[in-house]
Amino acid sequence: MADHLRKYETLFTLTPQRMRMIVEAFKEYLELGLEKPKQTVPMIPTFVFGWPSGEEKGDYLAVDLGGTNLRVCLVTLQGDGKFEITQSKYRLTEEQKQEDGQKLFDFCAESLKSFIDNSLMESGQMKDGQKLPLGFTFSYPCSQQRIDHGILIRWTKGFGAANTEGEDVAAMFHSTLEKYQLPVELTALINDTTGTLIASHYVNPQTKIACIFGTGCNAAYMEHVKDIPKMKELNIDENADMAINCEWGAFDSDEHEHLPRTKYDIIVDETSNKPGEQAFEKLISGRYLGEILRLVICELIDEGVLFLGQNTYKLENPYAFDTAFLSLMESDPTDELLMIIGIFSHFFAVETTLAERQFFRALAKLIGRRAARLSACGIAAIVSKMGYLDEGCSVGADGSLYNKYPGFADRIHEGLVDIFGERGRNITTYHAEDGSGVGSAIIAAMTKKRKDAGIH
Ligand code: GLC
Repeated sequence: MADHLRKYETLFTLTPQRMRMIVEAFKEYLELGLEKPKQTVPMIPTFVFGWPSGEEKGDYLAVDLGGTNLRVCLVTLQGDGKFEITQSKYRLTEEQKQEDGQKLFDFCAESLKSFIDNSLMESGQMKDGQKLPLGFTFSYPCSQQRIDHGILIRWTKGFGAANTEGEDVAAMFHSTLEKYQLPVELTALINDTTGTLIASHYVNPQTKIACIFGTGCNAAYMEHVKDIPKMKELNIDENADMAINCEWGAFDSDEHEHLPRTKYDIIVDETSNKPGEQAFEKLISGRYLGEILRLVICELIDEGVLFLGQNTYKLENPYAFDTAFLSLMESDPTDELLMIIGIFSHFFAVETTLAERQFFRALAKLIGRRAARLSACGIAAIVSKMGYLDEGCSVGADGSLYNKYPGFADRIHEGLVDIFGERGRNITTYHAEDGSGVGSAIIAAMTKKRKDAGIH
């Protein structure tokens, strides 16, 4: 096993020098996205102007269509940087991700309806005749011309619902809300990263960047309008700031010139529903890490190195190996690695030796560490582009990988030191506030304030 491990170490390890090269290329992609429309990293202007004051107040509804779940929530902003939240969560099925887009939005509206009728009306949190502003957190790349509008550029994270790409998803959702006669006003369409940026800043004003490391991987930050050349003709106040949804998961897509892709990454890409796309995300996000490890295991099964004489058909199913297993394998506290025994026997009906379990754990570590170090490259690119290194900045981060994968945050921090030297310690990540719910409420409140003031 030791020889094999050495081979994978070479394949999956990122040297500081390589990381610095990635950061340089990344910065160019970010600049290009700000300069011209339709670039690989689209750098989407979100029409969220500046930071919240912290005094935003009131009741807001939010619908959050994420990569794995649909969530509906009522957020009460208290006006002093605090909030309360009531919510319901529904798991999305694979069919729902692929069926007609309008049906998917119908499901969102039905879930919202049952949340309002069965939860909010019952408890008196919402009253008959009351109409609430609604933020729609739709975490896919949408190009926006206003805050309550967004053309879906492409599905990501394995979604493929028909008749949605190229359409205004806010308008589609709006007509569904009307069909169900829901007492809401669709105020804002937001990305989860933008919501996280605003919600994190609401409670921690040091925050300048927000990242999601979950089923997908992406970041948002606040940019000066004067530094977004592609917005020039809109004649927006040059002194204003606007949040940018980077959609950095697309970095190095198509050209594949900069990222260290292994043959397993190439298989993940080519067998995905969107080959060539989301090249950066496919090396990092929770949707893919388990699959990368499974492909390595399958190669060793084919070479006769692992599980000789055992029936391994369960391991041969694409995506059978959940990224949560990598977290569990890395956190197994027992000498015998009992949790790893359990994973392989219970889910895949194969027996493992201790040496194999140690090997699997080491592999998980390599793949998880590479993901965190690449994430550090993305953060470093924004930090360096914006000149945040010396003054330092906080990065609000959320998502299952960040919150549940042992050591993910520490590895990002190590990566930042490898890139920037000691000054890298000025950049710290922390677990962000619920951006998809709270962020969307704050943005709805900020939008309402602008409207009331007659600014559109
Ligand atoms: C994917 C989506 C992006 C989202 C991210 C995290 O990268 O394209 O919009 O922010 O996943 O959920």
